[in-house]
Amino acid sequence: MLLLHNISQLATLRGESTPRRGAALNDIGLIKDAAVLCAGGRIVAAGKQAGILRHPWYKKNKRKLKELDCSGKTVLPGFVDSHTHLAFVEPRLIDFEKRGAGASYEEIAAAGGGIRSSVASVRKASEAKIADHASLALEQMLDSGTTTVEAKSGYGLSFDAEMKSLRAIRRAAKQWPGTVISTLLGAHVVPAEFEADREAYVNLVSDKMIPEAARKKLAQFVDVFCERTAFSVNETRTIFGAAARAGLRTRAHVGQFSPCPLLGLLPYGPASLDHLDNILDSDLPHLAQSDTVATLVPGANYFLGHAKYPDARKLIESGAAIALATDFNPGTSPTTSMQFILSLACTQMKMTVAEALSAATINGAHALLLAERKGSIEDGKDADLAVFNAKDHRELAYWFGGNQCETVIVNGAVRDE
Ligand code: NIG
Ligand code: FE
Repeated sequence: MLLLHNISQLATLRGESTPRRGAALNDIGLIKDAAVLCAGGRIVAAGKQAGILRHPWYKKNKRKLKELDCSGKTVLPGFVDSHTHLAFVEPRLIDFEKRGAGASYEEIAAAGGGIRSSVASVRKASEAKIADHASLALEQMLDSGTTTVEAKSGYGLSFDAEMKSLRAIRRAAKQWPGTVISTLLGAHVVPAEFEADREAYVNLVSDKMIPEAARKKLAQFVDVFCERTAFSVNETRTIFGAAARAGLRTRAHVGQFSPCPLLGLLPYGPASLDHLDNILDSDLPHLAQSDTVATLVPGANYFLGHAKYPDARKLIESGAAIALATDFNPGTSPTTSMQFILSLACTQMKMTVAEALSAATINGAHALLLAERKGSIEDGKDADLAVFNAKDHRELAYWFGGNQCETVIVNGAVRDE
């Protein structure tokens, strides 16, 4: 049992049980001079401190409670990082240098770099080695306030190496106190040995990888990189169909480098469509009317040196539900920091701090179909909280490049104690 008290600002993110859109993104349920009670891994009550100290449960249990003084601190639900690529083992330093010398991501990929250049090391690596690498990233994430993470495979690109990657994610997840949701991204790019027969690779993903991942409960989602250099809309539909037959939900990378007509994908009910740097105006109302979350990953724009970022304002004004994620991966976004993503959202995409916080917590939880348990500080939800060394919640997006997270609470337990 735990009491967080004297909280300078508590952003509860409480509200409707549907993804936040439009003006609701700005309502973060902010409470000053607040306290939070946790027991049995759940939130028992959160609100003004004066009220919490009168709560009958508090009166009954106050002698048994552990207390955490949060004077001068901001408390949030732990970040939900709903898009990461955890299963790799090496940085891509050659690509990085080539981009510094002026080459683009797509040019580097066409010349044999890019995603394919991460494949050889993953195929060679043991499950334990990939898991160790993933664990390191998960630790960094937790240190900076992230308590729920979506983790994709996608650098194996063979049946064995994709299943090994998913097992490695499961192994790393078991050693981590937070929650990990796994995604099969066998359809990241067509591997070199299938260059001449793409259809055979799409079939391998659809008929072998997806059924096995579902049978062994290795993945909850199936992702596809839908892009001119990866998989077409039709191929994506084939793979989404296979996911549905296997009982797995879907998500996709869309519109990162070229526009992708979303109308062909929305009928499959993807939980999330991610990147959206290029989006057709005619798709906006359809996206807004769907339950699909639009996940923006500005770390990729930053790292690729793009001047242009996804048009968050247009998406928000259209009524789409926006989430923010790191897209942690070796090619386009080697950062584990949701705090840095908040900074990018506010400075480069002109989101308000409140919108960015909603997108990084409750809407991330919606993007993972986990909003009943995660993403807000409300009675009965999992007690996953992050305490920041900031008197005002706006400081989270203001200071950048560092880590303001001081303490993380996962399932009601203060980490490292
Ligand atoms: O989200 N776009 C596809 N996937 C990653 C990039 C992966 C890579 O380059 O290794 C992304 O940006
Ligand atoms: Fe990605």
